[in-house]
Amino acid sequence: MDWKNKVAVVTGASSGIGAATARQLARAGMRVVLVARRLERLLRLEAEIESGGGKAEIAAADLSSEEERAGVFEWVGAADVLVNNAGFGWYGYFSEMNWETARELLQVNIGATAHLTSLFLPGMLARDAGHIVNVGSISGSIPSQGIAMYGASKAFVDAFTTSLYRETRGTRVQVSVVRAGPVKTEFGEAALGRENGGHVPTEKIGVSAEHVAWRIWKLLLRPRRVIYVPGWLRVVPWFELSFGWLEDWIGPLLLKRQCRER
Ligand SMILES: NC(=O)c1ccc[n+]([C@@H]2O[C@H](COP(=O)([O-])OP(=O)(O)OC[C@H]3O[C@@H](n4cnc5c(N)ncnc54)[C@H](OP(=O)(O)O)[C@@H]3O)[C@@H](O)[C@H]2O)c1
Repeated sequence: MDWKNKVAVVTGASSGIGAATARQLARAGMRVVLVARRLERLLRLEAEIESGGGKAEIAAADLSSEEERAGVFEWVGAADVLVNNAGFGWYGYFSEMNWETARELLQVNIGATAHLTSLFLPGMLARDAGHIVNVGSISGSIPSQGIAMYGASKAFVDAFTTSLYRETRGTRVQVSVVRAGPVKTEFGEAALGRENGGHVPTEKIGVSAEHVAWRIWKLLLRPRRVIYVPGWLRVVPWFELSFGWLEDWIGPLLLKRQCRER
C-alpha cells in the first residue's frame, strides 16, 4: 500500500505515542489529522510538522463526548488510516476510584475506539482500503491488581480488534492492535493527576514513544492482527495462562506496597 498523501487520523496526538505517531506518519508523506483536547499542543505539533514539509490539520475534540467524536468524523469525512490511541490510566484500588474517573476512562479508552471505528470503518470498506490501528496494552492480556478499569478497557480493545480483524478478512481493510508494554510518556503523570491516583509502577521505565510510532508505521507497511512492543512481550498471554496463580499471590503484596508509598 502506498500511503503517500493518504489521510491518517491520530487520536491522542497532543503527547506521547500519538504525537510521535503523527510525526512519523507525516514524515512518511501522509496527511495527518491531529485529535486531542489540548489545542496549544496540537497547534505546536502542526507547525512543527508543516515546517518540516509535512501536512497536518487539527480536529480538537474531547473524545469522552459522543457529539465531539461525531464532529471529528463530520469534519474529516474519509480517512485512510485511523489510529485509535487516545487513552489514560489510573492506578490504585478500584474501591478508591471515583466513578467520574471510571466513566471517563470507559468513554475514552473504549467508547472513542468503538465509536470512531463505527464512523470510519464503513467508508474504508466501501473503498476497499484502509487500516485501523488500535493502541492497546499488554495490560489487556494480564489482568492485574491496581489497574482494574484500565486493564479491562484494554482487554476490550484486544477482543474488539480481533473480532473486526476476522470480520474484515477477504477485504483490503486491515484492523490491528498494538499490545504495548511500558512506554516513556506523560501517561504516569496523567494517572497521578487524577483524584486518588497513585504512581503507575512502570512509569519510569519503557521504550520510547518514537519506537512505538516506528512499529506502527511498519505495521501499516506490513499489516498484522497484533504486534507486541517490545516483541518479547508475546510471552505474556502464555505467562498469564500458565502462571496466573502466581500473580494472585504476589500481585496483592505489590499493590499494597505501592499504595503505602503514595
Ligand atoms: N505509556 C505507557 O506505558 C502505555 C503502555 C501501553 C499502552 N499505552 C496506551 O497508549 C495510548 C497513549 O498513551 P501515552 O502513553 O502516549 O500517554 P499520554 O502521553 O498521556 O497521551 C495520552 C493522549 O490521550 C489524549 N486524551 C486523553 N483523554 C482524552 C480525551 N478525553 N479526549 C481526547 N484525547 C484524550 C491526550 O490528549 P489531551 O489530554 O490533550 O486530550 C494525550 O494526547 C493510551 O491509549 C495508553 O493506554 C500507554
